[in-house]
Amino acid sequence: MSEGFNPRILGIFCNWCCYAAADSAGVSRYQYPPNVRVIRVMCTGRIDTRFILEAFRLQADGVFIGGCHLGECHYQTGNYEALIMAELTRQVLKDCGVRPDRMALEWASAAEGPRYVELITNYTNKIKGYGELGSLEDEDPKPLIVRHLTAAVKAAENMKVRSAFGNVAKKLHKEWDYSPDRISKEVAEKVMPAFRRQRLIEETKLLVKDKELLTNKELIKELSISDEEFDAIIKALSKLKGISIEEGIIKLAS
Ligand code: FES
Repeated sequence: MSEGFNPRILGIFCNWCCYAAADSAGVSRYQYPPNVRVIRVMCTGRIDTRFILEAFRLQADGVFIGGCHLGECHYQTGNYEALIMAELTRQVLKDCGVRPDRMALEWASAAEGPRYVELITNYTNKIKGYGELGSLEDEDPKPLIVRHLTAAVKAAENMKVRSAFGNVAKKLHKEWDYSPDRISKEVAEKVMPAFRRQRLIEETKLLVKDKELLTNKELIKELSISDEEFDAIIKALSKLKGISIEEGIIKLAS
């Protein structure tokens, strides 16, 4: 555990369950770590991958999402949708060099103050053990992680990515199959390819803006991408206004 490290944790809690559980834990004067800053939403189904990526981009060390137990959502299926959103977020975080389990999704009913205390204490201790975002991740240093996340936030707004996510959500709902393996497979196969491609496009735009011009070779090295991904990015960039690609040089169009 990192000595003296006080993690910054964002809590996004459903109004009806986890928020009420945290409230009742406070009223009952249970002791638990004070590291969580809470945003209250009406349902975990309202939470978007973008919100979580943005929190990490702004240097949160962890994001803890708390909702109603499955089958108890006040809007019926909001927390099932949150399962898919959370899996997409985990896969994107991994792709950005962030440990996926820096984000947690847990359930606690309004009557479960003690459960909330146990969950948040264990989670905070785990994040303390991981240290500050970027300090103990597998390979990426923090500035690189922040660049990946900045691009990922933009990618999460892309219509093609959102529509791929919507189609997976509809399909799983229709088949009523929310098993972890199925969610993981659908997200990996149907959403992540579009998400990663868009993230790389957004990251290229950031690099060009920063360096003013970029050779193809530099781009491949900066993004650590395959030839196939490089071709797809160049093809997409060539259709964008504001970017010019000539003789192996990518730059802002004059
Ligand atoms: S109302 Fe609590 S998760 Fe939907």
